[in-house]
Amino acid sequence: MLQPIILVTGGTGYIGSHTVVELQQAGFETVIVDNLSNSTAAVVDGITRITGVRPHFEQADCCDRNAMAAIFDKYSGITAVIHFAASKAVGESVEKPLLYYRNNLLSLLNVVEEMIAHGVFHIVFSSSCTVYGQPAVLPVTEDAPVLPAMSPYGNTKQICEEILRDTAVSFALQGVLLRYFNPIGAHPSAEIGELPVGVPQNLVPFITQTAAGVRQELSVFGNDYHTPDGSCIRDYINVVDLARAHVQAVNYLADGKNKTAVETFNIGTGKGLSVLELIDAFQKATGIKLPYKIVGRRAGDIEQVWANPEKAHTVLGWHAQESIEDTLRAAWKWELVVRHKA
Ligand code: UD1
Repeated sequence: MLQPIILVTGGTGYIGSHTVVELQQAGFETVIVDNLSNSTAAVVDGITRITGVRPHFEQADCCDRNAMAAIFDKYSGITAVIHFAASKAVGESVEKPLLYYRNNLLSLLNVVEEMIAHGVFHIVFSSSCTVYGQPAVLPVTEDAPVLPAMSPYGNTKQICEEILRDTAVSFALQGVLLRYFNPIGAHPSAEIGELPVGVPQNLVPFITQTAAGVRQELSVFGNDYHTPDGSCIRDYINVVDLARAHVQAVNYLADGKNKTAVETFNIGTGKGLSVLELIDAFQKATGIKLPYKIVGRRAGDIEQVWANPEKAHTVLGWHAQESIEDTLRAAWKWELVVRHKA
């Protein structure tokens, strides 16, 4: 019997690359489509060194409909798509809203249209807890209302979710929307990890670069929030754990276990950590003292959010396994590799 092929758009990116590794290790053949706008082809080598199997790689932009059609024609064994390819910087999306709407919406439209044209009906979509805004009730469940988006980036996630739900009404499309909380860490082999371009906007890459001496000190954005230590609270999820959720989602659709055409799952640990607690955990895990100062709040930040991941546990059979210490140690190990190569 032919091995099922999973098409992974954005497969050389941060979460995509870790997902390709987990898919391969679960026995799937994978095809990566990536335009390398925020990653490099060397990631494919890193994946290959971990798994011993080279994934198919097609350098193409999902916004190019003809290129997508050609890829679906070439790999006739595709049974499901995991769609990561998207622009993801909240701040940049405010400066360049049209770029975000074009990239994130057109790529999904092209992927879904070509899926339907080629008889591929299973899709796993990379969504975000940003759709909840500041939830009234914590931990947040999938039933919590979707609030007006705080950025064009967040809005593209909401619109893409709607596109998939609406499409599933008229076509045989079956989808899983995974709402990620805050993905952090790297593969324990340090062969792949996050590669931020320029000054990192996200907390953990900024922490590891500060620890490596690339940045002088970390700024903690606010200590006057209504939280126990005054800093913001997030649910930091290990990227390998997160990658495994995609394998579970693909299997869930393949097994026909979904009760509705499009199912939504929170992917988080269920535990909130403040910025100051995370800094403390990093120092304990690595033994490195991190220079930081408290500065004013960052515009648009949500005070606190963490997941109720119960549905992913009971329905997908998924739960986060990695400890925060191991996760931060993996992020640090990866930073050292990146510095060594720089
Ligand atoms: C946000 C979105 C997330 C999106 C991500 C992409 C929410 C709840 N989350 O994550 O969906 O995928 O952006 O970029 O909207 N911080 C500092 N100093 C720093 C950097 C960050 O104190 O130098 C703090 C932030 O104020 C925040 C926490 O660290 O409280 C996490 O920030 P970050 O890593 O940027 O992620 P979010 O903003 O939570």
